[in-house]
Amino acid sequence: MRRLYLVATVLFWLLVAAFWAGSRGLPPAEESVAVVTEKSFSAGELASHATPENCWMAIHGSVYDLSAYLPEHPSRPEVILPWCGKEATEAYNTKTKGRAHKPYADDLLAQYRIGKLTPAQP
Ligand code: HEM
Repeated sequence: MRRLYLVATVLFWLLVAAFWAGSRGLPPAEESVAVVTEKSFSAGELASHATPENCWMAIHGSVYDLSAYLPEHPSRPEVILPWCGKEATEAYNTKTKGRAHKPYADDLLAQYRIGKLTPAQP
């Protein structure tokens, strides 16, 4: 009985050692690196989305597709529509009346982001 116990113990530790030695040779577990590929749009591409049904704007360096949001915007359409297809940071910052949008407008805006504006070449 004592002999069986000894053999079982030795076998157990041999197995543990074998697994340990085996795992040392394995390549490290693949790291999950999220590759964030962001789209970049030129001013020309932005300008080709300048209708109420297809309205993009560039604000603070990002491009937003606001087509779905425009009917919800609280101002008269004439106030916001001229900014479709354009760089509209100043208009957004001031509501064209020198007053900033409320913080929840920023949260809304974030939902429509589709990429960044390609910086103009010098
Ligand atoms: C870039 C051109 C824009 C202009 C000129 C503009 C202008 C205005 C104006 C004049 C108002 C006041 C409306 C009223 O109370 O009668 C307003 C309100 C509002 N706008 Fe805009 N807007 C622009 C873009 C946006 C965008 C892109 C969003 C969000 C996606 C947005 C969200 C809102 C919200 C939530 C309000 C009501 C709360 C507040 O006054 O901040 N606007 N905007």
